[in-house]
Amino acid sequence: MKKILIIDDEVEMLKSLDKILSHRKDFELTLTDNSITGNELVQTKKFDLIISDLKMKEISGIDILKNALNNFPESKVIMISGYGTIEASVDAMRQGAFDFLEKPFTSKKLFDCIDRAFEEEGVKESESVLEDEVQTPFEGIVYKSDIFKKVLDIVKKVAPGSMNVIITGESGTGKELIARAIHKLSKSKNDPFVPVNCGALPESLFESELFGHERGAFTGAVKTKPGLLEFANNGTFFLDEIGELTPSLQVKLLRMLEDKKIRRVGGQNEISIDVRIISASNRNLKQAVKDKLFREDLFYRLSTIQIDLPPLRDRVDDIIPIAKHFVKEMCEKEDVPVRRFSHDAENLMKQYPWPGNIRELQNVIGRILYLCSDQIIMAKDLPISSNQRESQDDEALNMNYKDAKDKILEKFEIDYLTYHLKKHAGNISHTAEACGIDRRTIHRLVKQYNIIYKDSD
Ligand SMILES: Nc1ncnc2c1ncn2[C@@H]1O[C@H](COP(=O)(O)OP(=O)(O)OP(=O)(O)O)[C@@H](O)[C@H]1O
Ligand SMILES: [Mg+2]
Repeated sequence: MKKILIIDDEVEMLKSLDKILSHRKDFELTLTDNSITGNELVQTKKFDLIISDLKMKEISGIDILKNALNNFPESKVIMISGYGTIEASVDAMRQGAFDFLEKPFTSKKLFDCIDRAFEEEGVKESESVLEDEVQTPFEGIVYKSDIFKKVLDIVKKVAPGSMNVIITGESGTGKELIARAIHKLSKSKNDPFVPVNCGALPESLFESELFGHERGAFTGAVKTKPGLLEFANNGTFFLDEIGELTPSLQVKLLRMLEDKKIRRVGGQNEISIDVRIISASNRNLKQAVKDKLFREDLFYRLSTIQIDLPPLRDRVDDIIPIAKHFVKEMCEKEDVPVRRFSHDAENLMKQYPWPGNIRELQNVIGRILYLCSDQIIMAKDLPISSNQRESQDDEALNMNYKDAKDKILEKFEIDYLTYHLKKHAGNISHTAEACGIDRRTIHRLVKQYNIIYKDSD
């Protein structure tokens, strides 16, 4: 049972919150319309969540917030603010409020906010998942989604073996991070991990990088130089962007895998090599095999184990924990106070499809921290835009005509009404007049969609 205290000196508001929240069997509600009583309660009794109005007659919501967190720092506080009090709300977040809801809001928005407040405790940091292990091989890998947990389960299972692994996934999904995690969990964790990008160098240079060369092997080869494969001996060799490997290098790599021996460019002697190959590709390698661009025999040698990393848009639950992780990491590095996201900023990040995945998220966070100095990061600060409306419309396109129309209409009515109620500070008469509909219709819609607003008629 979650203990929730609601403080609002407007009885009507209190009643509607009571009506909505009392449906939830896992909530134990305490309500008061008296800010003095509320203020005493927050200092004497521990609540999991406090929902308080910002502006109240005797004691302000900010004071209640401060007193609550002074006595029970783990409590979460959600502030409800009236119309046009954004600045006060930002101040509340600065003082430690979990979030603020600006009136009017829908019951869905309220539930989302409450659920997030409780969810925050449940983020899996990789260290705690593996707390009984001496090392922390998953350090720096943040996740919350079940789909990514399954990926890490596979990683844990295959890492101790010596089989070659291929990691596929769109750009920026964490392929290198996972490759390093596999190495750290393997028998050869104390031997080298050598990463190489197959797309980065022209073929001739790449060959001598990989296999090394003897003195005089080609113009400019003034000294004998061992290749990276020799450096990686007994350890892990990470071949990034394996799909870029040219046909002749594919042959050479295959030979090495079969014979476990290499020969330096221009060299006679064979050198024994024992490495585990982890490769990564953001191309559809199977298709490349079908198109005869990548050797099938090499593909099978490399892909004994296949790990596919899902794109960030398919693991929406990971977005906010990873974003917070980057904010914390970057702020600590700069030695500035850790910033927080507003509710709307979090929503926007969850709706955005992140084509560049985690790397794009990392870049976006870096840019905001650099460009915006506010303590709270708002949706308007994010250099991304959501195509939620499009995706909702797309969803409607695949429904039957009536359901589709109802769905689009419902979204329109909610957006339209919340916009005008906000514009007219919750005054139904003014809203009705401005919109050219009668008051009863507004009352009916407000009720139908559970729009929570402050009636200032
Ligand atoms: N689950 C995660 N938690 C925290 N940071 C992550 C996570 N996944 C990836 N990152 C970080 O995101 C960045 C991109 O990850 P990485 O380089 O491993 O991706 P990649 O798939 O190899 O990308 P590319 O295709 O661009 O080479 C890195 O800075 C990495 O540390
Ligand atoms: Mg990479």
